[in-house]
Amino acid sequence: MRFDLADLRCEWDLDWSQHHVNHGSFGATPRVGQVALADWRQRAQRNPNSFYRWELMPAVASARANIAEFLGLAADEVALVRNSTEASNIVLRGMALEPGDEVVVFEQEYGAVTLAAKRAAGLAGARVVEIPAPLEFTDGMLLGAFASSLTGRTRLLVVDHITSMTARVMPVVELSRICREQGVAIAVDASHAPGNVDVDFTGLDADFWFGNLHKWACAPVATGALVIGARQRAAHPALVTSWFDLEPYPLPFDMLGTLDYAPWLATPAVLDFISGFGWQRWRAACRERAAFGRDLLRASLGLPADETALHVPMALVPLGVHGGALEANGFCRALGERHAVQAAVTTYRNELFLRVSGQVYNDEADYQALAAGVCDLLGR
Ligand SMILES: Cc1ncc(COP(=O)(O)O)c(C=O)c1O
Repeated sequence: MRFDLADLRCEWDLDWSQHHVNHGSFGATPRVGQVALADWRQRAQRNPNSFYRWELMPAVASARANIAEFLGLAADEVALVRNSTEASNIVLRGMALEPGDEVVVFEQEYGAVTLAAKRAAGLAGARVVEIPAPLEFTDGMLLGAFASSLTGRTRLLVVDHITSMTARVMPVVELSRICREQGVAIAVDASHAPGNVDVDFTGLDADFWFGNLHKWACAPVATGALVIGARQRAAHPALVTSWFDLEPYPLPFDMLGTLDYAPWLATPAVLDFISGFGWQRWRAACRERAAFGRDLLRASLGLPADETALHVPMALVPLGVHGGALEANGFCRALGERHAVQAAVTTYRNELFLRVSGQVYNDEADYQALAAGVCDLLGR
């Protein structure tokens, strides 16, 4: 099978002795991103005094404007952050929770973000309420479960747009509508959204939205975006207080002291590169690969075909094995060490799953190696 954009495999400097079928977790930037990173770093190091004093902040503002345009927003609506972990901490620490308050998350919320919610809640004497959400739940059931979790103490819902554990697209627009009606704040953890799906910021009435560009937009690692609604800005400063602290949003987020800003600065080069092929075509090429990998793996495991069209380039395949994080990590490591397959093995409700990713650097052999490796480890 020859996938669309197959020639682009050579644009990545991945270790080709391995099969990389987990773009979703950490992304991977093409050579154009690595070159831009190196250029910005060299520019900083050739004349640090001039770079950090005069060149850096205009360059950051320009990169931010470019990233905002890519997201369909104005330059002053988006704050740059290093990743979703940082963004979630900014959101949660600024919530001014009080004893008895409740922060709601779905069962499949990303673990580190749930921990940040628990820390913020714990410090305030508030609590985190986890909504049970079995895999078979429809969108309607998720909305119903959320509506019935609401109490007079519910302050905030934190919800993944695309879940990490289960690669599910959550009904975030409808959830944001319920939140607005009920006077509850909503933070959309859109870590997997930029570059992957169109984000409708008009329909999505969220107090907070954050996403990683280093996943599906293929930006260099440490490029995240955080959108804080006008009502919430004053209470949600950057985690790091620095020279721009008294400037209006989002400028304080631009200035974090002396550090490596190259990932943000290099991101426009990658966005330009991908937009040259057209984002819709690029996304379809990624989904095509993920669907191929899913189908091949299911067939190899003797599972019935799954006809569902993929909306994102990630698919979940059950491994038919019980286990938690320990077993998932063990399986993931064994796939790498014994079969040269770098994959994401997730666990949900004590069942293991293979989350198959598709990116334009993937070819048929990657998924064949995945299927062979999984079957071998399962003794099939
Ligand atoms: C839904 C979700 N939230 C948060 C994160 C954390 O992203 P990062 O490690 O880049 O901060 C991830 C990473 O996979 C994620 O999938």
